[in-house]
Amino acid sequence: MTDGFTRIEALPAKAARAEYQIEDVLGRRWSPRAFSARPVGQEKLLRLFEAARWAPSSGNDQLWSFVVATAKNPVEHERLASCLNERNRRWAGRAPVLMLSVARMRFARNGRENRHAFHDLGLAVGNMLAQATAMGLYVHQMAGFDRDAARRKLGIPEEHEPVAAIAIGYPGDLGDLPDDLRKRELAPRERKPVAEFAFSERWGRTMLQDDADHDSGGR
Ligand SMILES: Cc1cc2nc3c(=O)[nH]c(=O)nc-3n(C[C@H](O)[C@H](O)[C@H](O)COP(=O)(O)O)c2cc1C
Repeated sequence: MTDGFTRIEALPAKAARAEYQIEDVLGRRWSPRAFSARPVGQEKLLRLFEAARWAPSSGNDQLWSFVVATAKNPVEHERLASCLNERNRRWAGRAPVLMLSVARMRFARNGRENRHAFHDLGLAVGNMLAQATAMGLYVHQMAGFDRDAARRKLGIPEEHEPVAAIAIGYPGDLGDLPDDLRKRELAPRERKPVAEFAFSERWGRTMLQDDADHDSGGR
């Protein structure tokens, strides 16, 4: 496992240990730091944006935007990488695709504040994550970037908010990572149990599984 050449898609610690059954693309997704240099073609990128496009949004405002730079154009790729903080830049600078997600914070139709802007952008990125996973791509989102630098260097207009930097690519080799990051890559994925955040009827009331009210629909 630590021979330095382990393919990250084969890491057993990374599969979701689900309490209840979920779809494969949700369980297989995780946020790696070891990306292969293999380029991601334009058509694949457009499929990711197509997935984002069909996300729901408040008032169907579709407030999301993405600025993309690929390693095909090293100058532009470096421009986006230079907005990342040092910790992220160490590994994300090697991902063949970097993006910045951007939210318009006011409704296009009336200029009113959109309190759900981040929520809706997150839904679009969520769609992208599922699509990417189904296509064998991995995605790692980052809060660790300089918002002002991103705004300035990428020309983001005033009424739009830079939200997250995103690295995308095919899985790479653990051996490409420095020791400390390799260790994190091998750590199991941890989650709170469902009972800690899904409440029944009132805040704080645990949802207990009730065998008596089985749902016969769906799968
Ligand atoms: C909005 C957002 C910001 C994040 N920022 C960073 C970051 O700056 N650096 C980093 O290494 N990981 C970052 N992450 C990745 C999270 O740490 C990761 O999703 C979380 O630990 C769960 O791991 P998993 O995605 O592998 O399931 C971010 C994730 C999200 C959704």
